[in-house]
Amino acid sequence: MLTVKRLFSTSQSSVDPKEMKKFQLLAHKWWDEEGDYSALHSMNDLRVPFIRDTLLNMSSNYHLGSPLSGIKILDVGCGGGLLSEPLGRLGASVTGIDPLEDNIRTADQHKSFDPVLAKRIQYKSSSLDEMVEECMETFDVIVASEVVEHVADLETFIKCCSQVLKPEGSLFITTINKTQLSYILGIVVAEKIVGIVPEGTHEWEKFVPPEELQRLLESYGFSVQAVNGMLYNPLTGSWSWMESTSINYAMHAVKSGAGGPSSPTESLSEMESEQRSATAGTSV
Ligand SMILES: C[S@@+](CC[C@H](N)C(=O)[O-])C[C@H]1O[C@@H](n2cnc3c(N)ncnc32)[C@H](O)[C@@H]1O
Repeated sequence: MLTVKRLFSTSQSSVDPKEMKKFQLLAHKWWDEEGDYSALHSMNDLRVPFIRDTLLNMSSNYHLGSPLSGIKILDVGCGGGLLSEPLGRLGASVTGIDPLEDNIRTADQHKSFDPVLAKRIQYKSSSLDEMVEECMETFDVIVASEVVEHVADLETFIKCCSQVLKPEGSLFITTINKTQLSYILGIVVAEKIVGIVPEGTHEWEKFVPPEELQRLLESYGFSVQAVNGMLYNPLTGSWSWMESTSINYAMHAVKSGAGGPSSPTESLSEMESEQRSATAGTSV
């Protein structure tokens, strides 16, 4: 039976019940390294150092052995905890949320195999929307890896990210671009020919171009610091960085400090007034 905490029927929700049905079928398969989620396992080779090194470069504190100690991370759409666990092992205090209860059950069960993680990770069956009320400006870092291409309403999702993140906090997103190449490789090859991703996992219409994501983030007060292309090799099962963002990409954005824009209207009207004064300047 589909166990999503509540029915997401409001126009505000970022959760798509159709997507939940797909993930429900695979909720017990997260930790099979050779199975349906093998590409997410190997993606850790890129995304974990990307997150770790970006955060270390931004910080003056360094804790030997636990470099992310003292950092509060929200892993949104954590699934079975494939990314939450290595971040917890690096010392971060991780809250992993997923709307699907069965995913959280799997994540909790797997966490229990490593006593180090007991105090570092807590999982919760929740949507991001539900977190906003209790967690305003709570987290230093949000991670949403391979999630935005599954949400019902990307704008609501980004708005909620901005609300639960502290000023100057970091947001890390990995996702798939919306190009002809991503259709061919991400859907035709990956799902229909090679079968490295279960058929029906992705809908091309929901893929997000980096320019669109960047615009949306900026309208909610984020500034994008890095966009890196990622390439999956189905023959070796491994990922590498590449210059082109035409297929998969990783993005790092930082929320503006206290007093920065908190709504798109505010930031857009600031941009408009800047444009007006710039125009006024050039016309003199
Ligand atoms: C492809 S999996 C990625 C899991 C995990 N982030 C990882 O990379 O290992 C996508 C996950 O996002 C969750 N999800 C889908 N829609 C979501 C939403 N609107 N808000 C939060 N999580 C969502 C799904 O339940 C699923 O666990």
